Amino acid sequence: MKVPFIDLQRAHAPLKEELIEAFSRTIDHGGYCLGPDVDAFEAGFAEEQHVAGCVGVGSGTEALHLIALAMGVGPGDEVVVPAFTFIASAWFAQYVGAKVVFADVDSNTFTVTRGSIEKVVTDKTKAIVVTHLFGQAADMEPIMAFAMERGIKVVEDAAQAHLAQYKGRYVGDIGDAAAFSFYPTKNLGGLGEGGAVTSRDSALLEQIRILRAHGSKERYLNHFVGYNNRMEGLQAAALNVKLPHLRGKTARRQRIARGYLGGISNKDIQLPMPTRYGESVYHMFTIRHPERDRLKAYLAEQGIGSDIVYPYPLHLQPCFSFLGYREGDFPVAEEVAKTCLSLPIVPELTDEEIDYVIKALNAFA
Ligand SMILES: Cc1ncc(COP(=O)(O)O)c(C=O)c1O
Repeated sequence: MKVPFIDLQRAHAPLKEELIEAFSRTIDHGGYCLGPDVDAFEAGFAEEQHVAGCVGVGSGTEALHLIALAMGVGPGDEVVVPAFTFIASAWFAQYVGAKVVFADVDSNTFTVTRGSIEKVVTDKTKAIVVTHLFGQAADMEPIMAFAMERGIKVVEDAAQAHLAQYKGRYVGDIGDAAAFSFYPTKNLGGLGEGGAVTSRDSALLEQIRILRAHGSKERYLNHFVGYNNRMEGLQAAALNVKLPHLRGKTARRQRIARGYLGGISNKDIQLPMPTRYGESVYHMFTIRHPERDRLKAYLAEQGIGSDIVYPYPLHLQPCFSFLGYREGDFPVAEEVAKTCLSLPIVPELTDEEIDYVIKALNAFA
């Protein structure tokens, strides 16, 4: 049997007719950059994600960049960023000339904690990027309380956490602003690049609207130095087709995860244990194993796809060598990067495929 790690064709095949019809409508009305599909998506996603407001942009990376600009983060400021996350979480600070200051992560949730943040905060800290990695919300209450005491902004990187909840609240509505990604492999993905900013702060969202369109509110009148970061109509059209399926697909990911948690009994495998404060939406199901590379090769021999997400902690990335971090600075992030392996969890997988993966993992010695 072959079990793919990701299979976008399988995900899109049943929606193909509907997608083509949606694209056809977009071609006819001509709203290619922003336009009616984007308006509908912004409203629909805000409702589904239970956030006050949403602005569609070109990618999750650009969502982070525009939030940093709108918050006035810049040279002389420090921004706390998880040492284990996707690189774009750090671009939030780097793109605007602020200093990236890494913090270690928790060994079970792979997210930053109040404790790890407190260790690296200084008087210059202007913002904290909290990534809800792999669909698991970080423990936000203590982080928000600390940030509030210190007057520090909290930015949720929710690129991997559509519909994730924390103590009954949806992510994207907890910090001062949040970035979502609709990259094709995300829990909600388009057929190309896409992203969004969500926030309760309507002034900040208005600023994002201006920044994403060349700093302009009125045609050819540019109030600020702006960017070309509009969400495209065709991407919004695809996302509008996929959005009604998100809740069901998320529930399927959670069922697969429960299958893994209940079925994997290999003692050398460390499972991502559910937290007290909210259920993950399992963008990834990431286990740890002391012989990760041997396990990955073994799974490949059995026809099972897996991926190392992520093999390098950010503080040891060549692009950040100028910051002077050394091996040993963030032991948990380093250990996770050496031992993590993400298993197939896309919602289109069959129960038979999941059982096959579980059996293979339990037979690995
Ligand atoms: C945690 C995280 N942050 C930010 C991004 C950036 O999103 P995009 O790929 O849409 O630019 C991603 C997506 O890859 C991500 O996983």
